[in-house]
Amino acid sequence: MFSPGTLKDRVAIVTGGGTGIGLAVAKRLGELGARLVIGSRNSANLEAGCAELLQAGFDPLTVQVDVRNPEQVDELVERTLRHFGRIDILVNNAAGNFICRAEELSPNGWNAVVGIVLNGTFYCSRAVGRHMIARGAGGCIVSILANYVWTGSAGTVHSAAAKAGVMSITRTLAVEWAPHKIRVNAVAPGPIRSDGAAKQLWGTPEARQRIIERVPLKRWGEPEEVADAVAFLVSDHSGFVTGDVLTVDGGAWLGRGTFEFL
Ligand code: HXC
Ligand code: NAP
Repeated sequence: MFSPGTLKDRVAIVTGGGTGIGLAVAKRLGELGARLVIGSRNSANLEAGCAELLQAGFDPLTVQVDVRNPEQVDELVERTLRHFGRIDILVNNAAGNFICRAEELSPNGWNAVVGIVLNGTFYCSRAVGRHMIARGAGGCIVSILANYVWTGSAGTVHSAAAKAGVMSITRTLAVEWAPHKIRVNAVAPGPIRSDGAAKQLWGTPEARQRIIERVPLKRWGEPEEVADAVAFLVSDHSGFVTGDVLTVDGGAWLGRGTFEFL
């Protein structure tokens, strides 16, 4: 189904594209022919991600950006347009997260995560959407959620609320921007192997064991498996799909039935 021509010459911005799932997404889109822009806060992450992408044969534009800052997001879009002339794909992947009981979470802690995930996704979608609407050639936006949009998530109320908000942005923009041929979808991963998530969320072997026990397929997902879902949703193979959420979690959110021990 996919070939190096699938996304030929399409320009894709991946936020948080220097590490983990975002880097895997950037690589996959590059393999399918897209021209790449990766953006995030830390130059070390961008440099390391850029080096991996160069090694894989791509030549990405890297832009230092904090997605919580709408002016910096506009600058990301302007720099992309100066460099590549257009934008066809946006992947809202940047996120922050940590485990904290709701009663102990400070307003700053809440705002840090909601600011990155919910506000950042809106600012990026708005800035890229404006360009896509003005250009009149359509486009695709995919946001990375988490499988707990279906359930809520004890221990990460900030992230669960923000990701649910992004799901609502996805459905809303899918309808609002359909007349402009902009498709807006999302991917909801379960536990995926990544250094960033491991550091923030499952630092001990005991925590990792307990998480995997709750996954019906009994393994971690790989960043490349999320990347494949994104690739499908930004390609013409999903041309009639908009406003949808593709869950990539080994059945984790469904594995809660009363008799699952049978
Ligand atoms: C309690 C915490 C905290 C923690 C930070 N804070 N970490 N509170 N427990 N572990 C509080 C701080 O005390 C501060 O509040 C406020 O949050 C902001 O902290 P800063 O460090 O100043 O924020 P900032 O530098 O902007 O960093 C943002 C961040 C950080 C979200 C806090 O963790 C980050 O940059 N994360 C990016 C990478 C990441 O999180 N990747 C994981 C994605 S995995 P006070 O009140 O003290 O000022 C994922 C999906 C998992 O999202 C789904 C699994 C199924
Ligand atoms: P990660 O490597 O920590 O990725 C987070 C990325 O976001 C980093 O590249 C980070 O780069 C960037 N970022 C954070 N704050 C930013 C900001 N304010 N502005 C711009 N960029 C920012 O973790 P990951 O596991 O790959 O997560 C990627 C996505 O998958 C996230 O949306 C996450 O919620 C989602 N997800 C992950 C899992 C999992 O199990 N791993 C499960 C479900 C969903 P900088 O630090 O350089 O800014």
